[in-house]
Amino acid sequence: MNTNFEKALEAKGFIDLPIDPSLDLIEEIKKLKKEKNAVILAHYYQEAEIQDLADYIGDSLGLSQQASKTDADVIVFAGVHFMAETAKILSPSKKVLLPDLKAGCSLSDSCPPHLFSKFKEQYPDHMVITYVNCTAELKALSDIVCTSSNAVQIVESLPKDQKIIFGPDKNLGDYVKRKTGRDLVLWNGACMVHEIFSREKIEKLRIEYPGAKFIAHPECEDHILAEADYIGSTSGMLKYTIENESDTFIVATESGILHQMQKSSPNKKFIPAPPNNACACNDCPHMKLNTLEKLYNCLKYDLPEVTLTEDVIRRSRKPIERMLEISDRLGL
Ligand code: 13P
Ligand code: SF4
Repeated sequence: MNTNFEKALEAKGFIDLPIDPSLDLIEEIKKLKKEKNAVILAHYYQEAEIQDLADYIGDSLGLSQQASKTDADVIVFAGVHFMAETAKILSPSKKVLLPDLKAGCSLSDSCPPHLFSKFKEQYPDHMVITYVNCTAELKALSDIVCTSSNAVQIVESLPKDQKIIFGPDKNLGDYVKRKTGRDLVLWNGACMVHEIFSREKIEKLRIEYPGAKFIAHPECEDHILAEADYIGSTSGMLKYTIENESDTFIVATESGILHQMQKSSPNKKFIPAPPNNACACNDCPHMKLNTLEKLYNCLKYDLPEVTLTEDVIRRSRKPIERMLEISDRLGL
């Protein structure tokens, strides 16, 4: 690879080489995947066409579990940067590719490690639990990582008198506080997508669809969660819509999950919870940076690759493994 190519990649975040318009990208991606013994792990917030191509679709916990046990040589992560980093930490000998390196996360950005490190110094007798939506550097400053699937159980796995700092998501932290009755010290971070829902508009929808169930991700604010019939991770929400007998669901999370909900329950109606303005704000702009074209180029050129220093991998691995051990023990 020449330096100009590297520079262009760094500036854009993805491989911007022209693609023959006559190619059937879906078939080509399948071929490349086989040739390179690659696996595509996709989050539920990806575009429908990417979800349909994936070998595994899941929430952050499921994706980490898959990344830790895959025997593929290459992991293509159709998700955001912190998810690909987690895969790299758990499978350091494998090549981990992310179709667009600029696919970040507003929640992760809300917690710069150097500031968190200073914050942590104020509470020397506290353990640190970090939500997986953060950088590898931040994970390295933690005792245990958690996801939205297991945050409550991870906190409950610690002795009742153990003091805890929880970051970076204050909404998830508040939810865990309410569920466990524990007094957590919270970092003041949040996700731009989950803070946008309008309680007023959701209430109006509930009048319009009286039998509908309202389901929400715990990254939503507490006045939204207070209205919910079910609160859980993306896979938890999906499972609820499959098992619950209602035929209509109002869904407060990123809109990509609706694809799997509709596929799993074709006769049910799914309504994205409305944001408090007219924009398409419940689309995560980071997740949606990944496209079929970028996925194809990424597999073709084995770039962009997610890399981490050995030191960061070593320090961030323990808190993630601790989470996976607790989750395995509890059958999560
Ligand atoms: P899940 O782990 O519930 O899929 O959530 C990931 C995420 O980024 C939510 O915004
Ligand atoms: Fe991050 Fe929010 Fe996007 Fe999830 S939806 S990846 S928390 S910005």
